[in-house]
Amino acid sequence: MLILGVDTSCDDTGVGVVELRPDGSVAVRANRVWSQAVHAAYGGVMPELASREHVERIDRVMQDALQEAGITVSELGAVAATSGPGLVGALLVGLMYGKGLAQALDIPFYATHHLEGHIYAAASEEALSAPYLALVVSGGHTHLFDVPQDGQYVLVGATRDDAAGEAFDKVARLAGLGYPGGPAVSEAAKRGDPKAVAFRVPLAGQSGYDFSFSGLKTAALLAHRAGAKPEDLAASFQAVAVKSLVQTSVRAAHDLGRQTLVVSGGVAANAALREAFGRTGLRVVFPGRGLNTDNGAMIALAGAAAIRAGRAPHGLSDGAEAYAP
Ligand code: KG4
Ligand code: ZN
Repeated sequence: MLILGVDTSCDDTGVGVVELRPDGSVAVRANRVWSQAVHAAYGGVMPELASREHVERIDRVMQDALQEAGITVSELGAVAATSGPGLVGALLVGLMYGKGLAQALDIPFYATHHLEGHIYAAASEEALSAPYLALVVSGGHTHLFDVPQDGQYVLVGATRDDAAGEAFDKVARLAGLGYPGGPAVSEAAKRGDPKAVAFRVPLAGQSGYDFSFSGLKTAALLAHRAGAKPEDLAASFQAVAVKSLVQTSVRAAHDLGRQTLVVSGGVAANAALREAFGRTGLRVVFPGRGLNTDNGAMIALAGAAAIRAGRAPHGLSDGAEAYAP
């Protein structure tokens, strides 16, 4: 069965196609993302502009995805689209597009949680089956879930303030490294000294599994004002952010007896983070190339998991949920 996945939760118009085979295995057949450039001038996402760009682009991105998969629209067997969380105007574009398509083709429709999509992005690499721990680190989320059974998500820790990706973006901005900040910080860090600025790991010594990045952001601002070089600031910030994410996740995995850890979301593209998780001795599963940041294929992969688990499709009358948990 061929499943179309649509994500328009923020500033990327994503459409992907995933094949669900009779043996339950999956393959990504297409993954097209239009990343909106209009926001760069503002240093952050402008919600109304994002909605308008989705409206203008979605049909084109969909045609490109079908072409990449080498199929026609009539070959689709199901549609999955993100219903939340995200910018509500932006979400509605993809959600209504997906529902309209499902209705026109008379095929099942699956409303998908954006974070479930991020987690299932890792299913592009290895079959995901519970129990496992999942760390979603993106521009909007730093959430640690225990997954005792497939489809069941228990939040065990989260950021108390900024998301990790947001902190990367802000540090990049104050150091003059550009936007989006994650890749810029990662690139600059290669030329910097990770020990140049002495950042402390946030919430060190806590018994829970929360994260915090706003204090680091302030410390980075002070270091910048005191004359730290942008590359050193990038390297030192990245080192402490990675340390915090790895230490807390690994401690949770040990405490909860989980051997497998899924690490996904935009920040999971970070090379230093991947290296550090690779040294933990846990089985760590990352999404494949192009599946870390927001995309449609991850939504199709979550749809495939729902179909495989025998979950009932959703009605066409449910709306978008901007702030779903
Ligand atoms: O998952 P995503 O595309 O959107 C959200 O749902 O938020 O994540 C985007 C975030 C941005 O904050 C971006 O700076 C960060 O992921 N990011 C990275 C890297 N690539 C993207 N952060 C660190 N290192 C990277 N290589
Ligand atoms: Zn996301």
